[in-house]
Formats: sequence, C-alpha cells, structure tokens
Amino acid sequence: VGSSFFDLAKRQRAWRQFTDQPVDDADIAIMLEAATKAPSSENLQPWQFVVVRDEARRRALGDHLRAAWAAGGRDYIEGRLPRAMVDDIDRGQRGGIAAAPVLIVVGGDTDRVPEKWLASSIFPAVQNLLLAAGALGLGSALTTLVAANRPALAELVGFPDHVRAMAMLPIGYPARPLGAPRRESFAVHAWRESYGQPW
Ligand SMILES: Cc1cc2nc3c(=O)[nH]c(=O)nc-3n(C[C@H](O)[C@H](O)[C@H](O)COP(=O)(O)O)c2cc1C
Repeated sequence: VGSSFFDLAKRQRAWRQFTDQPVDDADIAIMLEAATKAPSSENLQPWQFVVVRDEARRRALGDHLRAAWAAGGRDYIEGRLPRAMVDDIDRGQRGGIAAAPVLIVVGGDTDRVPEKWLASSIFPAVQNLLLAAGALGLGSALTTLVAANRPALAELVGFPDHVRAMAMLPIGYPARPLGAPRRESFAVHAWRESYGQPW
C-alpha cells in the first residue's frame, strides 16, 4: 500500500465502521491544512470545519443522522441499490458513522460565497481532506444525508445563520479493510472532442 496520489485516489472508499482507536490532533491538523489549500471561487475560502470529539455531541449528531435515515433516507435507497450495499449504508447511518472518534461537520459561509456557488467551493476542500485522511492510514467518508435538515445540523455545532451545514465526515481507523472502489471505466464517461465520440 503506497500513499502516492494515484494509490490514494484508487483506494478511496466510504468507511462507515471504525475502531475506538483515537485519532491524533496533529493528524487532524494535517488534514485541515490539506483541505484549506483547495481552490474556491474567487479564492473566497467559504469552508468551515467543526471537529467534534465530545461524546455527548457525537451522540447528538448520531441521533440526528438516525432520524434523517428513518425519515426517508432509508426509503429512498431501499429496493434501488443492492442488498449488501443497503445493509452497509444502514449500519453506518444507524450507528457506525457516529461511532467514529472524530466527526467533522463541514459548513459553507454565505457571507463569503453566494449559496448558488457554495457547494462547488466547498467540496474540493472536502475531497482534499478525505485524501489526506487516507494518506495517514485513516478511514473517512463524505456524508450529506445528515444535512437534509440543514438548520438542525447547524444548530448542533453552533453555526451562525450565514453558515450552511453541508456535510459530515467521520474520521477514524477502519474497523475492517475495504477493497478497491468499484467504478465504471473512465472510458464510459469520457469523450473525445464532443459527447458521444468514444475515447
Ligand atoms: C455527495 C455525497 C454524499 C454522500 N452521502 C452519504 C451519506 O449521507 N451517507 C453515507 O453513508 N454515505 C454517503 N456517501 C458515500 C457514498 O454512498 C459512497 O461513496 C458510494 O456508495 C460509493 O461507495 P465507495 O465510495 O465506498 O466506493 C456520499 C457520497 C457523496 C459523494
């Protein structure tokens, strides 16, 4: 297992089960440093990261995620995705994700970037953070179901009115290894010169 960019990109997965092993603050700082090197519209850097370790607050975030899952998240994927995938996602939303020793709630500052362009200026930083976690041997996932009710999530981490809650990233040591991501070949998604011209 290497940690070159290409190795990391080829083994990024959504980890939803973690061990209790704590994550060093120094490692979190490395991830945040990488995240905040990302590009953003007009270099306005609208990202906000709340790093949650406190058990009571993680429990509240877990309850919030479970509620969003029960309120429609589960119904949305049930029957459309393969059984094993639904079960894995289910275990994650019902407890695995919130049991990570660190939960990073990601916000976007609408005083810096208008709502319409907020996501495209936030998620490059999130991807940097996730790849940095992988480089440090940590598991992580990008999750957004928890932000289905943005004001409620914002309140749990104290975001002011102008900061939108966008995502939550569990960070921890993987409970079990996951294989390579299963993806279609790039050639299914890439064209030469004009859409429909095969690679
Ligand atoms: C925008 C976005 C939102 C996602 N939201 C959730 C989520 O709310 N809960 C979850 O368990 N996984 C979430 N995921 C993870 C995806 O389900 C996962 O990446 C996909 O199933 C492929 O699995 P893999 O990355 O392990 O290969 C999200 C991924 C993306 C990119």
